[in-house]
Amino acid sequence: MDHLPGHQAVLCLLTDKIDRDVIDLAKECGVRGFANLAVGYDNIDVRYAAEKGILVTNTPGILTQTTAELAWALLFAASRRTSEADRFCRAGKFTSWKPLLFLGMDVSGKTLGIIGAGRIGTAMALMSKGFKMKVLYADVKRNEILETELNAEKVSLDELLTRSDFISIHTPLTPETRRLIGEREFSLMKRDAILVNTSRGAVLDEEALARALKNGTIHAAGLDVYEKEPAIHPDLFHLENVVLLPHIGSATLEIRGKMSLMAAQNILAMLLNQSPPNLIHE
Ligand code: DGY
Repeated sequence: MDHLPGHQAVLCLLTDKIDRDVIDLAKECGVRGFANLAVGYDNIDVRYAAEKGILVTNTPGILTQTTAELAWALLFAASRRTSEADRFCRAGKFTSWKPLLFLGMDVSGKTLGIIGAGRIGTAMALMSKGFKMKVLYADVKRNEILETELNAEKVSLDELLTRSDFISIHTPLTPETRRLIGEREFSLMKRDAILVNTSRGAVLDEEALARALKNGTIHAAGLDVYEKEPAIHPDLFHLENVVLLPHIGSATLEIRGKMSLMAAQNILAMLLNQSPPNLIHE
């Protein structure tokens, strides 16, 4: 808040909460807009900003492949237990090859369920081609790319949960998707299901997830995002069957450079009193 006076445009991060108070102050100070260095913008009250005539921009498109790649990294890490196995090696416990050492789950030929088939969900699904997977998706909209390219089936969320071996969450965080996946939804999943979340932590109930992982309701999970980031639910720390990453979905050298450039272009347009290229229209 202290930084607003004297500025016409503000670069903000997904960790900055741009709520009504901040927007009111921005208005008073003559700030024209906020450029979020992220594609997700649940940290900003976009509707209120629009009401007040404050511009909000994001960085869409460029981080799609990169985030989808990280979802795959989590899917493999959880299914083949690579983080656990890495810890085992570092602890000096690898004394001999053993037939039952770190048995994981196959990926090829299984069913992948995509919750939220937008840009990143679509990219993640398309990457499954090489693994010859059956793809299901749950979304409010039909996704013709997935249906044409992968013969994917659009199903209800409940059907996706019951039929998928791997479930990957890609919905934005909105009032409708907050805690979309909770106790009931975990109980619908297969006992050997693996869940991956690279969207926003609050889309699932972390405490219910920890319980499902502990009780064997589901097999494993891979998380890049958390409900109360940077805090991670303490119950998850003690579980070996969850892979935890510190929100690095778009964190590659190439993409963070492109995101910064995009945000800078949005800011420049705000300063020049032009319409920014990545203006969010709600
Ligand atoms: C985004 O852009 O919304 C990502 O979560 C940042 O990596």
